[in-house]
Amino acid sequence: MKAAFVTDLKKVEIRDIPVPEITDDQVLIKTHTAGVCGSDLHLFLGTHPFRKAPAILGHEIAGEIVKVGSKVTNVKAGDRVTVEPQLGCGHCHFCYEGSENLCLSKSVPGTPKWIGTFAEYFPAPASKVYKLADSVSYEVGTLIEPLAVAVHALHRIDQGTRGRTLCILGSGTVGLLALAVAKVQGYSRIICTDTAPYNREMALKFGADYALDPLNEDVVSRVKEITGGTGADASLVCAGAPNIIDQASACTRKQGVVGLVAMITKNIPVYTYSFVFNEQKLIGSMTYAPKYFAEAAQLVNSGLNLKDYVTQEFALDDAQQALSCLAEKKENVIKVIVKP
Ligand SMILES: NC(=O)c1ccc[n+]([C@@H]2O[C@H](COP(=O)([O-])OP(=O)(O)OC[C@H]3O[C@@H](n4cnc5c(N)ncnc54)[C@H](O)[C@@H]3O)[C@@H](O)[C@H]2O)c1
Ligand SMILES: [Zn+2]
Ligand SMILES: [Zn+2]
Repeated sequence: MKAAFVTDLKKVEIRDIPVPEITDDQVLIKTHTAGVCGSDLHLFLGTHPFRKAPAILGHEIAGEIVKVGSKVTNVKAGDRVTVEPQLGCGHCHFCYEGSENLCLSKSVPGTPKWIGTFAEYFPAPASKVYKLADSVSYEVGTLIEPLAVAVHALHRIDQGTRGRTLCILGSGTVGLLALAVAKVQGYSRIICTDTAPYNREMALKFGADYALDPLNEDVVSRVKEITGGTGADASLVCAGAPNIIDQASACTRKQGVVGLVAMITKNIPVYTYSFVFNEQKLIGSMTYAPKYFAEAAQLVNSGLNLKDYVTQEFALDDAQQALSCLAEKKENVIKVIVKP
């Protein structure tokens, strides 16, 4: 089968490798669509702290089951599915608590133990496979994984703040998916920000009440003005910028919550007094607990339409262009998809 390997800095090679063998409790999926995620870019751009090329990237997938192991009963050949791309050890504290996302020895695709989804076939544990409703296209099915990131983050910050005002700082893929989930959850007022005009336009199209431009507006004063001086009940940081945590805190009301989804790996300054003076909580959010992946699949299967979130599609042979498209953002991009 064909698989796209990142072999060097910004270099992708299509190689022919054997179709993966499956074990008794796994299924083999013919990949129809594989999403390109910001995290795939680290290896592509040479900024990953420990992973080394060559590797088959990709962890977002939708496809059709072509083979099931002898012990598999929940799905069958022909089923259209997506995959929760994480498998915990099953016996640590975090796995017991339902927080497999935090398991210290979990397996994920794109590593020596589990290939990535930029390949014609992809093996997965049957327990991590979710069926797609007939009405859900493979393209939209691929978005269930990043949607799960948003579902998990909104649960992390939900401290009685549903129904009220939410501020989403950064309206890229994750911020816009958080907007979609927040709409379903019934936040009454959603204020988005983004430096890019296209992303602000999309935020308004997908239902934000306001889309603020941090380069040309004082975001904090605008949020205060919109909320009658108190600030938003919760803020979700979905972009990395040196002042973004201070900005989130200043946009949030006393005893409000600041959720942190953006992976900011640089040491940035944080004015901690603002959290003390305002008795705010700062809460991190990392991928998703399995139950929130299930919730994301349920949302899509019951009709949440994310069709317009897919902005570019490439053949597997053009995986290098797909990764460059997201890395360079020369065009308006939300989600890039590779179609083997
Ligand atoms: N915690 C997790 O599990 C998890 C999962 C996926 C992604 N992430 C992280 O979430 C962040 C967002 O991911 P993404 O895929 O949406 O990326 P993205 O590049 O699609 O979105 C980032 C957006 O932020 C905007 N932006 C840049 N500076 C800004 C500023 N100062 N104020 C407001 N907006 C600004 C950009 O224009 C862009 O639209 C990244 O840091 C990513 O690593 C975290
Ligand atoms: Zn992803
Ligand atoms: Zn574990």
